[in-house]
Amino acid sequence: MLDKNNMFSGFSKLSKDEKLKIIAKLTKNPEEFSAEMKSFWHPDESLQKKFDEFSENTLTNFYMPFGVVPNVKINDKFYTIPMVIEESSVVAAAAKSAKYWLGRGGFKAEVVDMVKLGQVHFLWSGDKTKLISQYPSLKKLLIENTTHITANMKKRGGGILDIQLIDHTSQEPGYYQLLASFDTCDSMGANFINSCLEEFASILKTWFEQNESFTAEERKVHIVMSILSNYTPDCLVKCWVECPISELGTFEDGSTAEEFAWKFSKAIKIAHIDPYRATTHNKGIYNGIDAVVLATGNDFRAVEACGHAYASHTGSYKSLSDLSLENGIFKLTLTVPMALGVVGGLTSLHPVVKRGLEMLGNPSAKELMMIAATIGLANNFSAVKSLTTVGIQQGHMKMHLFNIMNHFDATDEEKEKALGYFATESVSFTTVREFIEKIRDKQPV
Ligand code: MEV
Repeated sequence: MLDKNNMFSGFSKLSKDEKLKIIAKLTKNPEEFSAEMKSFWHPDESLQKKFDEFSENTLTNFYMPFGVVPNVKINDKFYTIPMVIEESSVVAAAAKSAKYWLGRGGFKAEVVDMVKLGQVHFLWSGDKTKLISQYPSLKKLLIENTTHITANMKKRGGGILDIQLIDHTSQEPGYYQLLASFDTCDSMGANFINSCLEEFASILKTWFEQNESFTAEERKVHIVMSILSNYTPDCLVKCWVECPISELGTFEDGSTAEEFAWKFSKAIKIAHIDPYRATTHNKGIYNGIDAVVLATGNDFRAVEACGHAYASHTGSYKSLSDLSLENGIFKLTLTVPMALGVVGGLTSLHPVVKRGLEMLGNPSAKELMMIAATIGLANNFSAVKSLTTVGIQQGHMKMHLFNIMNHFDATDEEKEKALGYFATESVSFTTVREFIEKIRDKQPV
C-alpha cells in the first residue's frame, strides 16, 4: 500500500475496513484503535453507508453534541432551536439570553433580501466599446439559452435576476466578469448557480468565437473560472432586541440598569473601533449562528466567510452587532448576510438534520435565516453581558469543570462534590486533578 516514497497509493479505492486496518497499523495499539473507531459506526448498515458517502475516505463518524434552546420568541412565535456545537456553555448562554429577552418582548427579525451571486471571470483584449454596446444582446442570449437549467427554479418563483458585465481592466489587463444574481428560493442554490455559470461560460465562449463584428484576435476569449460567490451582502437578515433601559433589570455585579447599558454600549463601540476585539466579538456571534447552521445541514464555512467579509464592508473589520440607546431605549441589532437552504444537500439526507428542521416546524429558508441570526444575537448579548459584568469564567466554570472531571473518568458523585468545592475555588486542570486525587485517597479537601 505504501509506495517507494512511503506514500499511500490507491488508498481511496480500498474498502472502509481495509483503510481502517492500514491506518490502525500506524498506531501503538491497532486492535484498540480499530475497535474504538468501529464503536462509533451506526448499527443500521444502510444508514452508515449514507454517512460514509457524505465524504471521502471515511473511517468512522464524529460525534458532536446536538442541544436545543427552548422558548425562543421570534416575531411573537415560539421556537425550540437546535444547535450543534462542542464548546461548553454556548447553548447555555443562548438559552439564558432567550429567557432574559422573553420577559422583554422577545426577538424581532426580518429578511432584508435574498439575492445570491455568481461570477464568470474571463480575459478578453478587444475593443471595449464593441463589447459594451453588444452586451444587451449577449445577456439576452445567456438568459434564453439557460432555460433548460432555470425552468424548475422559475416554477418555484426563482431563477436568474440579472447578469451584469463588470469591467476590471483597470486592475488587470483584459479582466472582465459576468456578475449574475439569482433567487434560489428555499435552496442554498450552490449547484443551481454553478450550473448556470458554467453554461454562461460556454455560451460566452461561442458568442465571442462566432461574432462576425469582431476581428480574428477579438474572437479569442479565455474563461478563467465560473463559480458562485460566497459573499452575498444582499442576502441579508436583521434581528434585534429592545426594551426601555429602566427595564433591563439588575445585574450580578451590582450594576444598575443605566450603568449596565452604558458599559455595554462602550463594549460595542470598542468592537467597532478595534479589529482585535471585533474578531472575538463576531466569533461569539458565530458561536450561535454556526451551531444552528450545522444542526440544520447548512454550510457553516460559507456563512462565516460571508459574515466576516461583510464585517469589513466599510473598509475596516468591525462588529456585526450595533447598539443604540436613543430615547431611553436599549436596542441591540445584528445585521448579517447568510445564504441558507432548507431543501437539497444534507437537509434531506442527514436524519438528524431532518429532525432539527422538523423541530423548527420545517421553516422556509427566509425563516431559517431569521432563526440562525437570532441565536447569533442571543449569544452576542450573553457574551457581552457577562464580559461587562462578572466576566465569562464564572459561566464557563461548571462546563469547564465537568470537561476536566470527564478527563479523569469522574463519577456523578465526584462531580457533585467538585461542584460544591469549586463554587469558591478557581478551576484549572491542576486544581481539579489535585481535588480528584484527594477525594479518591479520601484525604480532606
Ligand atoms: C467565546 O467562545 C466567545 C466570546 O469570547 C465572545 C466575546 O468575547 O464576545 C465570549
